[in-house]
Amino acid sequence: MEEAVNSNFDSNKIIVALDYNNKEQALELSEKLDPSYCRLKIGKQLFTKYGPKIVDELHAMNFEIFLDLKFHDIPITVYKACMEAYKLGIWMLNVHLLGGKEMVSAAKEARDMVNKKSKIIGVTLLTSHNEESMSHLGMNTRADIVKKLSVIASDSKIDGVVCSPGDISSINTSKNSLEFITPGIRLSNDSNDHSKIYTPSIALDLGSSYLVIGRPITEAKDPMSIVEKIKLMI
Ligand code: C5P
Repeated sequence: MEEAVNSNFDSNKIIVALDYNNKEQALELSEKLDPSYCRLKIGKQLFTKYGPKIVDELHAMNFEIFLDLKFHDIPITVYKACMEAYKLGIWMLNVHLLGGKEMVSAAKEARDMVNKKSKIIGVTLLTSHNEESMSHLGMNTRADIVKKLSVIASDSKIDGVVCSPGDISSINTSKNSLEFITPGIRLSNDSNDHSKIYTPSIALDLGSSYLVIGRPITEAKDPMSIVEKIKLMI
């Protein structure tokens, strides 16, 4: 089967995070966007409320979907859950790298069974973890953990990792072909709840492959004009 598109050759680098609690708002926003300019991310809230139907509805509008469910469980459970997710025809799915190599490999195996063109990526360290919460868990510094988790991603031969653009330099990019899917992107200084933000062009300069962007687009009066503006910047 054909391999997934390498992000270097993929001009569609914007992933809009549909962080809504109702489908009507999510569909209304999607109608204003162009699937050739961006993909959509469905997270736990929308998926838990509406299930696979919301994926089908957005597929019917020609959008490719990143299903952001961050699976983390024993390998066989993650394998089975990933099988069901990929059967929905999604473009990308993620799991927690903290689940370990066996779990991440099980997720990749499920992807390979269903459709090798879809992407499987791993979440490194949640940006909500600060040095204090990490020290409570007996963890080392952020850069060290991100680096170690990225080794799990490259050893498991998955497509990429979710991380902050600022984390990319701590990952040895010469030793792997990982793609970097990065949230925390802003066009202005309004950081919301991100501890560190990056402009789209700086994120790409730092090595981002795909940009996950929520509120700067979803809260805009004219969301498509923001997508077009970002596309011109990158
Ligand atoms: O609105 P904003 O651009 O901040 O949206 C960020 C999106 O990125 C949210 O959907 C959030 O769940 C996601 N995110 C992520 N991984 C992180 C941090 C945020 O997927 N480490």
